[in-house]
Amino acid sequence: MRSHYCGGINESHIDQEVTLCGWVHRRRDHGGVIFLDLRDRDGISQVVVDPDTAESFALAEKVRSEYVVKIKGLVRRRPAGTENSTMATGQVELLGKEVTILNAAATPPFPLDEHVDVGEDVRLRYRFIDLRRPEMLNRLRFRSRVTSYIRNYLDSNGFMDVETPILTRATPEGARDYLVPSRTHEGAFFALPQSPQLFKQMLMVSGVDRYYQIAKCFRDEDLRADRQPEFTQVDIEASFINEEDLMSLNEDMIRNLFKDVMDVKLPAFPRMSHAEAMDRFGSDKPDLRIPLELQDVGDLVAGVDFKVFAGPAKNPKGRVAALRVPKGGVLSRKQIDEYTKFVGIYGAKGLAYIKVNDLAKGVEGLQSPIVKFLGDEVAMAVIERTGAEDGDIVFFGADKTSVVNEALGALRIRVGHDLKMLTCDWAPLWVVDFPMFEELPDGSLTAIHHPFTAPSCSPEELAANPATALSRAYDMVLNGTELGGGSIRIHSDKMQQEVFRILGIGEEESRAKFGFLLDALKYGCPPHGGLAFGLDRLIMLMTGSSSIRDVIAFPKTQSATCLMTQAPGEVDEKQLRELHIRLRKPVKAVEGNTSETGEE
Ligand code: AMO
Ligand code: AMP
Repeated sequence: MRSHYCGGINESHIDQEVTLCGWVHRRRDHGGVIFLDLRDRDGISQVVVDPDTAESFALAEKVRSEYVVKIKGLVRRRPAGTENSTMATGQVELLGKEVTILNAAATPPFPLDEHVDVGEDVRLRYRFIDLRRPEMLNRLRFRSRVTSYIRNYLDSNGFMDVETPILTRATPEGARDYLVPSRTHEGAFFALPQSPQLFKQMLMVSGVDRYYQIAKCFRDEDLRADRQPEFTQVDIEASFINEEDLMSLNEDMIRNLFKDVMDVKLPAFPRMSHAEAMDRFGSDKPDLRIPLELQDVGDLVAGVDFKVFAGPAKNPKGRVAALRVPKGGVLSRKQIDEYTKFVGIYGAKGLAYIKVNDLAKGVEGLQSPIVKFLGDEVAMAVIERTGAEDGDIVFFGADKTSVVNEALGALRIRVGHDLKMLTCDWAPLWVVDFPMFEELPDGSLTAIHHPFTAPSCSPEELAANPATALSRAYDMVLNGTELGGGSIRIHSDKMQQEVFRILGIGEEESRAKFGFLLDALKYGCPPHGGLAFGLDRLIMLMTGSSSIRDVIAFPKTQSATCLMTQAPGEVDEKQLRELHIRLRKPVKAVEGNTSETGEE
């Protein structure tokens, strides 16, 4: 139909006849001449239709915003003084000779030719229009470039793209499953995969050796700004390989990707143990752009009368930590109150602080609600430990270790941004040496990665000290976001059964749920390992988007609904009967399908 894209014509086409197709971005009538800005995925061209071409002029008068038209005409230089240097096509225009209206359009629910603040619910409901906006289309285009780069990279490194099933049994990654009832097997359900984890391990047993897949994963979990119920992984697995090989291959891929599609040279990825990350940054995905660190002061305050500090300092599961903020003395009382509220979200019961006004004056030079509780000597020792100088502020957290880490970990990021302390644009790292298990409040253990991750010790050592065992897992972290994670897997059935036992999965249950895995481990399973990147998160970071929804063509809301298709929806009685399902309560309209995308 067309000879060029609207965004593709320039001075080299002057005096040529071209045919453009697209949407009417804007129409202006100017003293007997009509200007149409015609838009397609590549850009916008200005078309001029004058009354000399009477039939076309009449049609041009009829078109409205977002009409779909085809226009044949002659490319010419714009008259001097009317060029638009902000547009790629701004030196030329099309003198329209033949206008064809391909389709009319109702008035769009929000204008595309000017910036207006449209609620996200309206954008998601009319996503097909929202995606016409250049910033949205550009994100999709960017995402496509990234996936094709990754495919090329993995293809040329000997990886094979293999598809794995969507209708399957539960693959545990720590979230709830989405279930699909079976019509042919009454009362039985498929689960949608939380990841292709077990299938990629089976492929290693089959000898595929190097696998990848750009795979859809489904997790029914609480949603946040960087989580979707249905998201995409770049899923990778390889055999006869160790963690060094895997980390260097994946690091190389990400570094080359950034270089190729963004011209960004990422620094080398440092390695940091999980324990060090928690100690220094209160997080297993530290944002290393922010030059603030937590420091333990528990040993200094264990003997003071101030129970708020002494309690956690003496408790093996407690922590008292300081966060020194250089030049943070400028923070006002109001800001500190605001931060106190902020750490409350993470369960902190308060936010003690010491402002260092004049160190030369000793304790007199400190300004703080807690110095009187600590005593002069301890207060000075704490300040010395943190290395604080005049003009600094030191914050404190005292509680269960997990609360202190989460609260001060979040505070260091918040303060780092508020005080504009970021030292670089990109700070990647590998976090390694994760513990195998984490203790739940009821004292039972749960796998930190997933139950197929290999420990760094023998089955006997694991059985003796499960709570302190480390795993062969690794996470790639970029700017405080977990981009991807993986591990070397268990390849012996004995070890796998030991892990199931520690997790409280008995022999019968493990046979029922993972019998195929235990069998596969017996029939010649090679040592293997892999990793999966969150593709949506990667694109989000690379495009600087604040929401994961902005890099997904058709995302779900915070309450896991699709506003465009109104999914999930009701099904009729006949379908339910076929699926052997009777509802406990009559269906209510799906909340969230009316509006509302929810708070982050
Ligand atoms: P994991 O559960 O760490 O590992 O997931 C890998 C990566 O997927 C991304 N991710 C998500 N992105 C968007 N929305 C979500 N709800 C969501 N959940 C996870 C993250 C994460 O780093 N099978 C293992 C990988 C392996 O061991 O090879 C797995 O799924 O960026
Ligand atoms: P209080 O004795 O409760 O008035 O607390 C004295 C100071 O300690 C206040 O600045 C509180 O914000 C702070 N504070 C109270 N509980 C904690 C805690 N668990 N961790 C850190 N600071 C706290």
